Amino acid sequence: MIKLKLSERIDEKDILAYQKDVERINEMINTKSGPGNDYLGWADWPNEYDKNEVEEMIKDAKYVRDNFDILVVCGIGGSYLGARAALEALNGLKSDDKLEIIFMGQTFSPNYVAQVLKYLKGKKFAINVISKSGTTTETSISFRLLKELMEKEIGKEASRKAIIATTDKEKGALKTLCNNEGYKTYVLPGDIGGRYSVLTPVGLFPLACAGIDIKAMLEGAQEAKKEYDSTDLNKNICYRYALSRDYFLKHGKPVEMYVTYEPQMSQISEWLKQLFGESEGKEKKGLFPASATFSTDLHSLGQFIQDGTPLLFETIINVIRPHDDIKIPHDADDLDGLNYLEGKDLAYVNQKAFEGTLKAHTQDGGVPCNIIEIDYLDAKTLGHLFYFFMRACAMSAYLLKINPFNQPGVEVYKKNMFHLLGKKGY
Ligand code: PA5
Repeated sequence: MIKLKLSERIDEKDILAYQKDVERINEMINTKSGPGNDYLGWADWPNEYDKNEVEEMIKDAKYVRDNFDILVVCGIGGSYLGARAALEALNGLKSDDKLEIIFMGQTFSPNYVAQVLKYLKGKKFAINVISKSGTTTETSISFRLLKELMEKEIGKEASRKAIIATTDKEKGALKTLCNNEGYKTYVLPGDIGGRYSVLTPVGLFPLACAGIDIKAMLEGAQEAKKEYDSTDLNKNICYRYALSRDYFLKHGKPVEMYVTYEPQMSQISEWLKQLFGESEGKEKKGLFPASATFSTDLHSLGQFIQDGTPLLFETIINVIRPHDDIKIPHDADDLDGLNYLEGKDLAYVNQKAFEGTLKAHTQDGGVPCNIIEIDYLDAKTLGHLFYFFMRACAMSAYLLKINPFNQPGVEVYKKNMFHLLGKKGY
C-alpha cells in the first residue's frame, strides 16, 4: 500500500545494527510492558475494535447528514487533529459535500470563535464535542458557547438530538454533563491517548459524518498492523523509517521536516507534528518535527532547506495519483511561454517539481530525504498510513528510552494560565 525509500545516507548495516533493539521494543509493544504500557490500546485496536460501535457510528452519521447542514467538531490536540487531517486529505479543501464540517474548540482566539458562532446563527448545525479528559479549557469554553447558541435557537429538547459527545467511559466533567443532559456518547477507550486515537470514535465519527468510508480506514489499519508487527528489518518499512529517525538524530540532524506536495495534506503534517512532538519531546531529547508544503514553501523555506544551517532531514509523503487533475490549456499568444506544457496534467508538473527538488536538496543541498510513496490516497490507505506512523512513533520513542504516551510538559503553561485566570487551587 505504501512504499518507503530511505535516504541513501543510511547504509543497510546502520539499519541492521538496530536488530536487537527492535526485537526488544517490538516485544515491549506487543506485551504492553514498556513505559506508558497502559496506553498501548491503539496497537491492537485494528483487530479489537467493536464492530457494532462502527455500525452505530455509521447510522448516527446518516442521521446527522440527513438532518443538518453543518457539523461542528469541537476538540483540540488529539481530539481534533486526526479528524481534520483525514477530512482534508480525503475530501479536499473545497469540498462540495452536502454536510459542511467546521472545527472549533482548538483555540481561545476571540476572532475565530466569534466568527464561527456568527456564521452558525440561523443554520442547522449539529455538534460533536470531543474530549477525553472532559476538562480541556479551549474545548469546554467553545462547547459552552455552542450549546448556548444551539439551545437559544432550537431549544433544549431538540439540542439533545443534535449533540453527540466523545469522551471517557466514566470520568470527567463532559461525561457528567452528558449523563445529566442525556446526550449520545461515544467512548474513547481508557488505554488510548489522544494523539493515538484517530481510528477510534474520536476520528471516525466526524469522518463518517463527512461521508468517509470508516470501515475501509480500519481495514487499512488492520493490514498495517499485520505488516508492521514484525522484526524483519529487510521488510518492515515502518521500523526502518523509525530507525532512520533515530539514526539522523544521532548524526547531527535533530529536525525532521515532513514534506507534502498537496496543500490538502498539510494537516497530515500537523497531525504528525503532534504525534511525534508530544510523544518524543521529553527529557531534553527527541527530533523536532517541522513541516512544509511544496511547491508553495519552496518559495519561502526552500532557501533555508537548500542552503541554511544543515540541521534537518526530510520525510516526503509523495502521492502519485491525485483525486482530481486538470490539463494546461493552449494559448494562441503564448505570452507566458507556457505552451511547452500544453496538454500536460498538473499532476505531471507537480511530480517534476518533486523530482527536481529532491535532486536539488539531496545532491546540492546535502539534505537526507526519506520518501514515503503512495500511489493513491483513499480511506483504506490513510488508515494504513495512520497506523504506520503511530507504530513508528512508539518504536522511535522507545529507542530514546522515552515514554511515548504521556505529555507532562504541557501542564506547565496550563498551571500558569490558570493562576493568571484566577482558577481555584492555582
Ligand atoms: O494527545 C493528547 O493526549 C493531547 O493532545 C490531547 O488529545 C489534548 O490535550 C486534548 O485532550 P482532551 O481530549 O482530554 O480534551
